[in-house]
Amino acid sequence: MALYEKLVAIARDHGVITPEDHYPEFPHPSGTVLIVPLFLLYDYSFRPDHVSVDQVVPWAAATNSVCTDEYLLHPDPFPDRASWCGHLCARAAVRLEACPPDIPKLLVNHFPLEEEHAVLSKVPRFTPWCGTRLTCGWHRRFNACAVVHGHLHTRRTYWTDGVPFQEASLGYPDRWDHERGMGAYLREVVVAPFDRSP
Ligand SMILES: [Fe+2]
Repeated sequence: MALYEKLVAIARDHGVITPEDHYPEFPHPSGTVLIVPLFLLYDYSFRPDHVSVDQVVPWAAATNSVCTDEYLLHPDPFPDRASWCGHLCARAAVRLEACPPDIPKLLVNHFPLEEEHAVLSKVPRFTPWCGTRLTCGWHRRFNACAVVHGHLHTRRTYWTDGVPFQEASLGYPDRWDHERGMGAYLREVVVAPFDRSP
């Protein structure tokens, strides 16, 4: 937690909006959009139903797919990463509930919000470290016009319930064509059509 707060301070020093800041309004041509940076983590719930939470790490280990977070990401002061995730989701939901429901939201999170988007063809047993079912349906619940996430290192867009879910990572450096420069790897966020004109 202390490290997180240190990173938030560094981000602010560089003018970066963090999940701890006021959600800024963006003047989209169709009307105001609220940009919502989220920090939510994972809780191992992105796993097949036949795998219990107690067995999820051995299940992933059978294909050498255990995330190094198991050794490097310390959850203190929470007892474990899942309860830390639960706290973060509950806190974010309270903030989102307090936002005007009619303003479309652009939800931005490191991890995918929907389990069906956590698709990793080369390491299918890595999904327990890719998000939480606690965020299932947040795009409907909080009137999202777009969702942006990373983590999977696979750039793609899924349309679910008319909302574009965009994996906007830069991908792995060894897959970049460095000749093209960084600008070629940035992308414009797509927003679902909406109309809030008076
Ligand atoms: Fe990640």
